[in-house]
Amino acid sequence: MTLRFSDDGKVAHLTNGSVSYVIEVVLGRYLAHRYFGPAIRHWDGTGVVPPRKRGFALELIGGTVGEYCDDFPAECPVPDVGDYRLPQLVVRGSKLGVTHCEPAFESWEELPEKPELCGLPSTRAAAGEATTLHVTLLDAELGVRVHLLYTLFDGQDVMARSMRVENCGTQELEVLDAQSLSLELPAKGYDVLTLYGRHECEANISRVPIRHGIQTSESTEGLSSPQHHPFMALLDPDATVDAGEVVAVHLFYSGSHVERCEQDEYGNVRLQAGINPRTFSWRLAPGSSFQTPEAILCHSDEGLSGMAQAFHWLYREHLMPARWAHRQRPVLFNSWEAMYYDTTYDKIEAQAKLAASMGAELYALDDGWFRWDASSNTAMGDWTCNPRKFPGGIDSVEQLVHGLGMRFGLWFEPEVISRRSHLFERHPDWALQVPGYEARVGRHTYLLDMGRPDVQDYLIETLDCWLAGHAIDYVKWDMNRTMSDSFSAMLPPERQGELQHRHILGTYRVLREVTRRHPDVLFEGCSSGGGRFDPGILAYVGQNWTSDNTDAADRTRIQWGYGLLYPPVAMGAHVSIVPNHQTGRTISLDTRFQVARQLNLGYELDVTKLTDEERDEIADQIAAYKADRAWMAEADLRLLATPNDNYVMWESVAPDRSRAMVMVFQRERSVLDAQGRFQLRGLDEASDYRIEETGQVAGGDTLARVGICVPLMQDDYEAVTYHLLRV
Ligand code: DGJ
Repeated sequence: MTLRFSDDGKVAHLTNGSVSYVIEVVLGRYLAHRYFGPAIRHWDGTGVVPPRKRGFALELIGGTVGEYCDDFPAECPVPDVGDYRLPQLVVRGSKLGVTHCEPAFESWEELPEKPELCGLPSTRAAAGEATTLHVTLLDAELGVRVHLLYTLFDGQDVMARSMRVENCGTQELEVLDAQSLSLELPAKGYDVLTLYGRHECEANISRVPIRHGIQTSESTEGLSSPQHHPFMALLDPDATVDAGEVVAVHLFYSGSHVERCEQDEYGNVRLQAGINPRTFSWRLAPGSSFQTPEAILCHSDEGLSGMAQAFHWLYREHLMPARWAHRQRPVLFNSWEAMYYDTTYDKIEAQAKLAASMGAELYALDDGWFRWDASSNTAMGDWTCNPRKFPGGIDSVEQLVHGLGMRFGLWFEPEVISRRSHLFERHPDWALQVPGYEARVGRHTYLLDMGRPDVQDYLIETLDCWLAGHAIDYVKWDMNRTMSDSFSAMLPPERQGELQHRHILGTYRVLREVTRRHPDVLFEGCSSGGGRFDPGILAYVGQNWTSDNTDAADRTRIQWGYGLLYPPVAMGAHVSIVPNHQTGRTISLDTRFQVARQLNLGYELDVTKLTDEERDEIADQIAAYKADRAWMAEADLRLLATPNDNYVMWESVAPDRSRAMVMVFQRERSVLDAQGRFQLRGLDEASDYRIEETGQVAGGDTLARVGICVPLMQDDYEAVTYHLLRV
C-alpha cells in the first residue's frame, strides 16, 4: 500500500496495488479528481480533458480560456462558483448570510493510522492494514477548513471516505449540506442500482439507466429505512452478477440519508452519499467541527459478486465487533411468532423444553414480557417485568432456559416510549412532539428524544442494570417506528434542524456504551426486520434481523439483496410455521430450512403445535446445520447467476476452497423451463470435488465453466443443496 506525492507536489496517488485513487491540485487552489479504478503504476496525466473553448461557462480563477467551472471534476464541490451540479458542502456564514464558500487546497499528509470518527461508527484498522490520506482545504475569508479523509485497506478494492468541517474563523456558520463524499466518474453510460422496499419486503433491486439530471435514493424517516437502503451503485450497462465494472457507495448512517448521482450535459457523472440535507442543518460555533458519517467506495471488475465479496470482507475484518465477525452462532428459538405479546412463564416453559430437545442452543423471549396486557399498547420505556405473566420475574425464565442447557435472550426496544407508561408520566418532555400539536403514534409509541443526554443516560443505565444483574446472553435490540413530530424540548429554535442527527448520535452513544460494557452478549439489531439494517448499526451488533418476512420464497430474494452488502454471519434467518404468517404461503419444512441455513439459523414457531415427525425433522436439520457451522462461519458467500429468474442460487465457499455448499431454489415448477446449467464460482479450478449428495466427482474448472444440472424439482418453492468436498 502506498501514498505517493508527485515531485512538484501537485498529485497524490493512493494505491493498494489493486485499486488507485488520484487527485491533483490545479492552479494552486482547485482540488481535482483524476481517477478511481483498477491500480495504475503512476499517474501520467493522460485522460485529463484538455481546455476547450466554449460559450456560456464561467472560467476557473487564474485559468486560461477553455478551463471552465461547470464541468470541473471537483473533489469537494461547493455552490455559487460556476459549478451548478450537486455540491458536497453548503455552508452559510452569519456575517453576510450567503452560502458562498471557496475552500482552496491547503495541505495533504499521510496519517499513520485510520482515524476514528468522533461519535460515529467507522471502520477500524491496525497499523499496516490501511493507509489514510488527509487533505485540508481552506476558505480563510469565511473561516472554514475542510478535512477530507481517504483510507485504502490492504486487501480489497474498497476505500473509506469522510469529511470534517471546521469553523476556524470568528463568525458562526450554518452547515446546510455536508455529504460524506463526492466522486467524479468519466462520461459514459451507467446503470444506477439501488435497494428499495418496505416492511417485510426489504432489499429489492432497482436497476435503471442513468439519465441526464439527478437521480436520488433517500430516506427522511429518521432511520436508514427499508424503503431506501443507504447504498447506490453505478454499473457498466453490460455488467452482470459476475462480470463487468461496478462503482458503489455504502453509507455508515442509521438516520435520514441520501445517495445521489448527477449526469451533466457532457455525460460526466458525480456520485455522492451523506446525511439527507432535507432534514438537516447544523450550527457551527467558532472553534467547533462537524463530522460527516463514513462512506465506503467500492470498485469491482467482477460485477455484483465482486462488489459483494469486497463489502463482506471489509465488514467482517474492519467493521463488525471483532469477537463476532467469525464466531459460530447458537441455534436460536424465538418466542415472537409462537405467542406474540401473549407471553407467560408456562408457555415459555413448554416451548423451551421442546426446543432444547430438538437441539436449540439459545432461547429468546421476545416482546410482551413487560407489557401490562397481551397487546402493544403499554409499558414501552419502563422495562419492568410483568409479574402476572412471570411470577418469578425474568430470573425464573433465565434459570429455566439455562437449566435446559441453552443460552437466554431478551427483547428490548430502547428508543421508544408508550403513551401509557410510567416513564411517560414522569417525563412527557422526553418524547418527540411539537408544542401545540398532537403527536403521531406508531404501535402506541412516540420516539424518545435520543439527542438528550438525560435520555441516553437513562437508557444506558437501564440496559446496563438488566445485563449486569441477570444472566442474559443475547439481546434483540428492536426499533419499530419512523420519526415524526420533530421538536426537541432541549434545543433552541435555531438548532431544531440538528434534531435528527443529534438523535442518531445519541442512539450511537447508547449502543456503543451498552455493547462496550457487555462485549460477551450477542446483540441482534432489528427494526421491524430490516428497517434499520445498515453498516452504522453493524459496527455495534453481531448480527441483524434481516426481515420480519419469514416466508422462504420471499426470503431468497431479501437475502440475495442484503447479500450484495453483508456477510452471512451478520444476518439472522428463521424457519417459521406454515401457512406463513406474513404471506399465507405454504412451503415445505425442508425448503424453509435450506433457505434459512444459509445465514444464522433460528426457529420462530409454536413448537407445541408441531407433529412428532416435524419435531424429528427439525432435530435433524439442526444437527445438519451444526455439522457445517464451523467452516460456514468463515466461508465466503457468493451470489451466483442462474439460467433464469425462476431460480435463486448462492454458494458458500470455505476460505481454503476445500469445500463449498450450494443451494438452488426454484420458484415455480414450469413445464417450459429448460433446467439450464448452474455455474459455480470461487472453487479451486485445479482440484476435483465430490458432490456428496450425488457421489459425482467433477473438476473445479468444469464446475465453473460447464456448471452442474440440478434434478427436476416437482413442486413450486423447492430447493436443492449440494455439499462439495475437495478430493
Ligand atoms: C418487530 C420485530 O421485527 C419482530 O421480530 C418482533 O421482535 C416484534 N417487533 C416485537 O414487537
